[in-house]
Amino acid sequence: MSQPLRLGIAGLGTVGIGVVRIIRKHASLLEARTGRPITISAVSARDRNKDRGISLTPYSWEDDPVALAKRADVDVFVELVGGDEGPAKNAVEAALSAGKDVVTANKALLAIHGQALAEAAEAAGRNLRYEAAVAGGIPVIKSLTEGLVGNDVKRVMGVMNGSCNYILTRMEDAGLSYEEVFAEADGLGYLEADPQLDVGGIDAAHKLAILSSLAFGTKVNFDGITLEGIDRVSIDDIRAAADMGYKVKLLGVAQLSARGLEQRMQPCLVPDTSPLGQLEGGTNMVVLEGDSVGQIILRGAGAGEGPTASAVMSDVCDLARGFKGPVFGQPAHALKTSTPARSTVPASYYLRMSLEDKPGALAKVAAVLGEAGVSIDRMRQYGHEEPSAPVLIVTHKTTPVAIQQAMEAMGGTGVLSGDPVALRIEDV
Ligand code: NAP
Ligand code: HSE
Repeated sequence: MSQPLRLGIAGLGTVGIGVVRIIRKHASLLEARTGRPITISAVSARDRNKDRGISLTPYSWEDDPVALAKRADVDVFVELVGGDEGPAKNAVEAALSAGKDVVTANKALLAIHGQALAEAAEAAGRNLRYEAAVAGGIPVIKSLTEGLVGNDVKRVMGVMNGSCNYILTRMEDAGLSYEEVFAEADGLGYLEADPQLDVGGIDAAHKLAILSSLAFGTKVNFDGITLEGIDRVSIDDIRAAADMGYKVKLLGVAQLSARGLEQRMQPCLVPDTSPLGQLEGGTNMVVLEGDSVGQIILRGAGAGEGPTASAVMSDVCDLARGFKGPVFGQPAHALKTSTPARSTVPASYYLRMSLEDKPGALAKVAAVLGEAGVSIDRMRQYGHEEPSAPVLIVTHKTTPVAIQQAMEAMGGTGVLSGDPVALRIEDV
């Protein structure tokens, strides 16, 4: 019989237990497909006595993930603890130093320390794989590194945080405020222990940073991302956008130009009839554009036990089959250092403002837009009871700089109550 591939699994939460379940349920299927048994030698978590709904007695126990990572009976260290520092990082480093291959679902670790870990893995001649780190069950890492390997990737885009998409779609469906839906999602356990990772866009930005590196051959650069979360998206914007034929999404976009690497994660409007516009609830969608393939769209569960463990198993099985490859699609030392670039790509913008309902108010706003070189495509003013009038404008395509200039000048008109809102309308 072929030698088994022996795993050490650190982290027995949602994903870790999902991996144990798949290995048990599909032992013969996995062996048939990879040509060797996949076994678990030892596991680690914080609390040995916690009821995890599954017996772990067949496996040795380690309190310390670092000790697990170094065990002689472990070929592959599977890191499912989480966090960009502490036990996860220490154990992954220890595993690579000890000559083990590593599989992780930890996007935070890779977005912050990906380059150093890739260099360490490649110097040690080991593999570091992370299909589950981006968009859960969607095989996007494989799509970029294998399926699209013959393409010059032009743009990567997507909705990669299910919790934010749940909140935005629930706000629209139920007509509830951000605060109400946030509380509801938190109560249902949909949010990370630190919810700011979700609603602040940080989790999605970690994923975008990883995809950018793979797509453009650049060193992973989380700090270069223009980042804005969903916590300032109001139900008024969601309703108004719907009225104009759009949905609000927390959208990540990355593209490389002569000016540098543009990476942004921010609330955007997308046409409600587009695939991204129709994405409901906690589902993820990644859009990849290559020079030969054109556009491909991947859609599926971005989180949860089954989908995420499915992606972890994809990496484990590749290692069982002896597949090797550089961590970010090309050798780490050959990855380019990118210059972060602000977007200059023209787009239409959605503007919402409250105007004093008196003669000449709208003319002043139109003048500010005109002076900034921003042309109005569509405009709506709604009936109202309060003294100020809600006004929506969709602009023709214009540059981000022109919109910023117009927004800054808007306050000087003296006719606005509150701050105006400007959201980019993404061509998808
Ligand atoms: P989780 O349910 O919170 O489980 C974390 C596990 O790590 C727990 O078993 C915990 O032990 C263990 N742990 C925490 N600190 C530890 C320490 N100091 N030493 C040893 N073990 C420790 O997390 P998860 O949702 O499974 O996520 C795991 C990883 O997958 C994270 O990187 C996450 O970002 C990523 N991921 C998760 C999903 C998802 O849907 N959940 C999707 C994609 C990626 P105890 O159980 O004893 O407390
Ligand atoms: N909090 C993440 C999400 C989990 O909502 O998508 C998966 O990374």
